[in-house]
Amino acid sequence: MFKKLCIIGIGLIGGSIARAARDQGLCQHIVAYGREKGIKNLQAAKNLGVIDEFYFDLETAVKDADCVIIATPVGVIEQVFRQLKPFWNEQTIYSDAGSTKLSVIQAAENVFTQVPANFIPAHPIAGAERSGVEASRPDLFKHKRLIITPLDSSSSEALNKIVRFWEKIGSLVSIMDVEHHDAVLAATSHLPHVLAYSLVNLLGKKDEKIEIFRYAAGGFKDFTRIASSDPTMWLDICLANKQEIIPLIQQLKAELGNIENMLADNNSQEIFETFTYAKQARQRFLKQFDNYMSQSITFTVQPGGNMRGEIRVPGDKSMSHRSIMLGSLAEGVTHVTGFLNAEDALATLQAFKAMGVKIDGPENGEVTIHGVGKDGLKEPKEPLYLGNSGTSMRLLSGLLAGQSFNSVLTGDKSLSSRPMRRVTDPLASMGANIHTQEGGTAPLQITGTSSLKAINYDMPMASAQVKSCLLLAGMYAEGETIVTEPAPTRDHTERMLNGFSYPVQREGATANINSDGKLIAADIDVPSDISSAAFFLVAASIAPDSEVTLKHVGINPTRTGIIDILRLMGASIEVLNQRTVGGEPVADLKVVSSQLKGIDIPEELVPLAIDEFPVLFVAAACAEGQTRLTGAKELRVKESDRIQVMADGLQILGVDAVPTEDGMVIQGKTSDSIGGGEVDSHGDHRIAMSFSVAGLRATAPIVIQDCENVNTSFPEFKDLATQLGLKLT
Ligand code: S3P
Repeated sequence: MFKKLCIIGIGLIGGSIARAARDQGLCQHIVAYGREKGIKNLQAAKNLGVIDEFYFDLETAVKDADCVIIATPVGVIEQVFRQLKPFWNEQTIYSDAGSTKLSVIQAAENVFTQVPANFIPAHPIAGAERSGVEASRPDLFKHKRLIITPLDSSSSEALNKIVRFWEKIGSLVSIMDVEHHDAVLAATSHLPHVLAYSLVNLLGKKDEKIEIFRYAAGGFKDFTRIASSDPTMWLDICLANKQEIIPLIQQLKAELGNIENMLADNNSQEIFETFTYAKQARQRFLKQFDNYMSQSITFTVQPGGNMRGEIRVPGDKSMSHRSIMLGSLAEGVTHVTGFLNAEDALATLQAFKAMGVKIDGPENGEVTIHGVGKDGLKEPKEPLYLGNSGTSMRLLSGLLAGQSFNSVLTGDKSLSSRPMRRVTDPLASMGANIHTQEGGTAPLQITGTSSLKAINYDMPMASAQVKSCLLLAGMYAEGETIVTEPAPTRDHTERMLNGFSYPVQREGATANINSDGKLIAADIDVPSDISSAAFFLVAASIAPDSEVTLKHVGINPTRTGIIDILRLMGASIEVLNQRTVGGEPVADLKVVSSQLKGIDIPEELVPLAIDEFPVLFVAAACAEGQTRLTGAKELRVKESDRIQVMADGLQILGVDAVPTEDGMVIQGKTSDSIGGGEVDSHGDHRIAMSFSVAGLRATAPIVIQDCENVNTSFPEFKDLATQLGLKLT
């Protein structure tokens, strides 16, 4: 990639960059520039084979280098730019590894007036307590985040090359704007360092310090680990980013002041709530952090295998959400069994806890909700973070529009790019006051109102989320809210409202609700999610010599499109032991392998199988002949654009899959149906699981990137799939 790489500042970071670049064969020759007083370190770098040569003369060091990386503390970067200026070469790519980015850009502006287009600011989020080149490691950046903060004026060629360089080193590269980078890092890294240093200072200065340190337990050690970091480096970082850090220190002082007052007043309840809130917030934060900052999960599926056995997949996601929502608004205590213990449903559960509802569990799928009544929710102290869950956000927007308090709904990157106007527009015509971002996306700022008015709404798209949102808003609106859907969609909201004794009238495509009712607590037994069972319905159909029984699956007729479509394709699925559990039909599904054939999927089945198309595309790839899906434009606005992402992945695997505006055309093959390769799930749980199933008919391993979101709906997927015979790691 580069003939000569020059590293300015060969410590832990610079040394690790050099080692990784050499390991990956990214450059032929690596040199370092340093000052004479650093000779010992430079010599060590050469002796260790980290670099080929070092120079005290910058001109010689950078001569003919096609890449120069500045890996010094941020405080000296301006000085480095000044020294580099006379030798600046338009053909060379320059980058850095500084932990703050605005200060680096200002340093470049101070020296060059305009940041040179061939300088690409970067920040690898990796480090170690030890410093110096001896501590450097070739894998320091592997699976770690690396943030690049390009400017409008940055050369795209240089940017692409730096992105590829870091990706080849194994980093997970993100692009961010400069201010955002500095604000995020101030809160997540810089403030914690300041705190760790100040706590150790405080305790260290106490007279009885020996005593204190002798009895210091794990808490002290864990909390202050980062106070062992290099003080010079952290001095530089704190000064460089003080405009972000100082306001955070002030907020922290106020927070400590609150706790001080609560303690002085013996306010046990508030202290308990504060600690509990923090504990839960940390849990959520760690999950987000895992997704965002650290190692992402990659699935690898070895080709072939068959699927045999009997399993029960986890609880239905749609019903789990609704059980928390309606249980919270009910009068009395609701017991839920079969609750889906996965991130999406937990996001709803957390949201209601944050609105003052006492909820115990989930433990072994059991949740107890101490309902607060229809008007008993409390204003949440913080924005409600709903992760990846479109259902939580769309249903809550309707429910919260008519409350006496304000609220803010936020979500992860995928959820923050999904269309919300489909709910905020009809809610606005009911008199709701919801502010979206430009483009109609989250965060949603909801100003609660007691004057919602009913509407008569013909939904432009077949969406259970829109229907449910409006029915929930209708519980707080004056008059009769009437919602008509263009095609049947899942009706769990209507069924469950009735189960909680709240009147909803249904006639054909229309549902009516008004504000007269109240919810009475009811026990709910959530059946297994047919959308999770779908992966195994397809898996056992396409894998030879397979037989799988899926126990206790919800077969509500608004959800069974997957069974109908697979049967039309020639699948063998038996529906056994049909029964009704808590107002929902349930059965065991037995599926055995069969040679599928391609079909034109009837459009009326689309809303009834809306979440199952990613895995149905895999079935189509293994079917004889052509399968054509139309009328499924909604797939483009799910957790990812499921038409594009699936077509891209299938094409990588050698499948003839052509995306269309509202569906896909797939030419299936009965042998060598699917090749091997590396595909990207784009963080979409159902895409990740669908490509896993594809491994059963692949001719070589399939590697699936970005699979952590499988936890949003089906955390047990890997265990259950491997138990049945899928070779997934
Ligand atoms: C859901 C409805 C569907 C579905 C989603 C869950 C629900 O979305 O895709 O996974 O629980 O109401 P749309 O209603 O937007 O089609």
